[in-house]
Amino acid sequence: MCQPDLHKLPRNIAIDGPAASGKSTIGTLVANKIGYMCLDTGIMYRAVAFQALKEGIDIADKEAVERLAERIEINIRPASSKDGRQFDVIINGGDHTWDIRTPEVNAVVSEVSVYAGVRRAMTLQQRKIAEKGRIVMIGRDIGTVVLPDAELKIYLDASVEVRAQRRYIEDLSHGKDVCLQDVIESLRHRDEIDSGRALAPLKAAEDAVVIDSDKMTVYEVVEYVMGLLKQRG
Ligand code: DC
Repeated sequence: MCQPDLHKLPRNIAIDGPAASGKSTIGTLVANKIGYMCLDTGIMYRAVAFQALKEGIDIADKEAVERLAERIEINIRPASSKDGRQFDVIINGGDHTWDIRTPEVNAVVSEVSVYAGVRRAMTLQQRKIAEKGRIVMIGRDIGTVVLPDAELKIYLDASVEVRAQRRYIEDLSHGKDVCLQDVIESLRHRDEIDSGRALAPLKAAEDAVVIDSDKMTVYEVVEYVMGLLKQRG
């Protein structure tokens, strides 16, 4: 498909959807095609969860986790190593790119992201990053809360079984010892918390384009999004 008119692209693009729905893969590919920056905001919540575990903070201690979210320093930099990472995740000066993707972090990250003070701190940072425009921002509440004025909003969906299979294969390719049933359970648990929370729950914005990727390849989804950009241009 030919390129959309680059002068008429939306200022910012929001991509939301459940865990492992392919948001990061699709967002990165689309951003590369149009020369936008891509920020997966899940990284920021993961960073808070990781740092809380590292500091021995009780995840149930709302105030302590919220204080941590206020003081944590998260930087995302171009990849410094060819170990499969898309970028480096630097937390308080240390490289924790892979540490934020462990089962231990997976188990608590949704709980951490329920806390109002954590969401407030992360949302503020995300809006600041988006001020300059030309960003594809990925998350759960980007189209509904963080950037409600984004000119293109995508809600990327897929069944829990398909998402689990994709995540399982990805984990295996990184040499992780995983079991498909555990991946399904973990995704179900996170879906429940992400969609059920009172504050900024996972849901499609009213003006979002919903894409069900169950029967689509990555490239079909990318081409579909590029088609939307072309239409809107
Ligand atoms: O996309 P992910 O699996 O890396 O996200 C990790 C967690 O962060 C997810 O369970 C919910 C939370 N999250 C959120 O609440 N809001 C966002 N904008 C992004 C992620």
